[in-house]
Amino acid sequence: MDVRDRRDFLKLCVASVPALAFARSLDAEQALGAEAKSGGPTPQAFRTPATLDRYADPLPIPKRILPHGTRNGISQYSVRMTEFKQQLHSQLPPTRLWGYEGQYPGPIFEAQRGTPIEVQWENHLPTTHIFAIDPHIHGAMPPAPQVRTVPHLHGSRTRSESDGLPEKWFIPGQSALYQYPNDQLATTLWYHDHAMGITRLNVYAGLSGFFLLRDEVERKMGLPSGDHEIPLLLQDRTIDDQGKLVYAPTHEDAVPLPPGVWGPEFLGEIPVVNGRIFPYLDVEPTQYRLRVLNGSNSRFVSLFFNRSKSPTDIPSLISFHQIGTDGGFLPKPAAMNKLLLGPAERADLIIDFSEFQGSVVTLTNDAAAPYPGWTALHEDRPPLNEFMQFRVVLPASAKERSLSLPAAVPFSRLEENQSIATRDFILSERMDDQGHSLGVRINGKGYDDPVTETVTLGSVEKWRFINTTDDAHPMHLHLVQFQILHRQGFNIPAMQSGKLELVGKLRMPADNEAGWKDTAVVNPGDVLTILVRFEGYTGRYVFHCHMLEHEDNDMMRPYEVVPVVVRRDGTATAPKVD
Ligand code: C2O
Ligand code: CU
Ligand code: CU
Repeated sequence: MDVRDRRDFLKLCVASVPALAFARSLDAEQALGAEAKSGGPTPQAFRTPATLDRYADPLPIPKRILPHGTRNGISQYSVRMTEFKQQLHSQLPPTRLWGYEGQYPGPIFEAQRGTPIEVQWENHLPTTHIFAIDPHIHGAMPPAPQVRTVPHLHGSRTRSESDGLPEKWFIPGQSALYQYPNDQLATTLWYHDHAMGITRLNVYAGLSGFFLLRDEVERKMGLPSGDHEIPLLLQDRTIDDQGKLVYAPTHEDAVPLPPGVWGPEFLGEIPVVNGRIFPYLDVEPTQYRLRVLNGSNSRFVSLFFNRSKSPTDIPSLISFHQIGTDGGFLPKPAAMNKLLLGPAERADLIIDFSEFQGSVVTLTNDAAAPYPGWTALHEDRPPLNEFMQFRVVLPASAKERSLSLPAAVPFSRLEENQSIATRDFILSERMDDQGHSLGVRINGKGYDDPVTETVTLGSVEKWRFINTTDDAHPMHLHLVQFQILHRQGFNIPAMQSGKLELVGKLRMPADNEAGWKDTAVVNPGDVLTILVRFEGYTGRYVFHCHMLEHEDNDMMRPYEVVPVVVRRDGTATAPKVD
């Protein structure tokens, strides 16, 4: 289609759907195309992903979003989802992306505990998806429109109506007003798309961003802030020689799939941090607070800070402290050398560069992909072993303080004897006769099967995730923050005949997992036991694996929180819900 045809096409669209504002994004694309024709950067001047210089671009920090006003005393935000082009590396042509407020990653929200906000989420995307949609996936079958979005604030305690349930999607030209009460501990939350059956594609296109919740406890800690507090959104992407995003999932054995067909995992070839490929950050020889989020579709990361010149040299690690998890500060800082994050997990880190003036520190990854990936089948997958560099080259700023880690913070631990019920969830994978995945399930059920989990508001329960598959799964619950009780092995042959027999030592959570979590990893052959208090609101919520390929097909289930009913004799029970 040449430019004139496109303009006519545009007119047609605008005429037939007058409410749409997506003309703007097409215009932007045309402008870029015109620039290429009229002597702007020519395609030949750009490089390909294989020939890019590493660490050529500074790390971008997404801008903060501000409210546009207040209504009934509540700050009002509005966020437009649009299509646009953005360079992921200065040597690559701009990449077509979807994002919030015209940027990838989306703008950072900074909210205060106890101060609710409202966000108007507006879908201004085109009506055709960037990526091919697999019409066999639940929720993505015709006549479902191609482009559907619904934002979810991951880790937040919100009413069901504002939670962004997968089926509550809306199309271009529509919007939704969501309320976030911010009535929970200060922590690193994030928002991302959650539309049924296409979450993997929408998030991959660029729809994710940080939401930092702050409170008094945090302020009193005097943690590094301003230029010394750095959000890091780690993602993996595959980009073709024209700079186009490629979504090409594979089978576990790395066998490619026909275009548009769902695969059990997507593992990108290139590291992208805050929307930049191989960025660097110049830092002072002092303490920094890093708020790390693994925002990849399927990739686990095992991170360390390495001073050696190349990833194949003997590593020279800088130790660091983790002070916070998904849902708040840890009871006490955990000293570490290495950090494992499954998709959607966050870590609040303190790293001290003060002894490393002049050094270059590489944020390195050595997690197997797929994770934990014990087979030799995956040798043809290119390793993704570096994300970014920290260069300790800036002069120390005047207000340099000595290293101080937060002392113990108040923490209310859940006790096993508070639990009033235990629920078991068997994670399984269906295979075809070549051993290729047809999809993943929880207790043999998919998202559309009737609700089987009804919990009472305010009660504590023990949930056990039993992993009978070859992959580790990062299991996530909406509405709540939970605590990991322990992990343990199980007898696999007994499980095959339907009996759960726990074997081996109980493994307590590591120090850096002994806090509030909303996502936790369960390894193959393991049972992960968590304690959850269902606090906040009644209504419909969901839980799922946060590998987005798994969530879409179909390792996700609904659950229902119901109110307590107090009888005349003072005993309380939950009403039956079917
Ligand atoms: Cu990150 Cu169902 O969410
Ligand atoms: Cu969530
Ligand atoms: Cu999974």
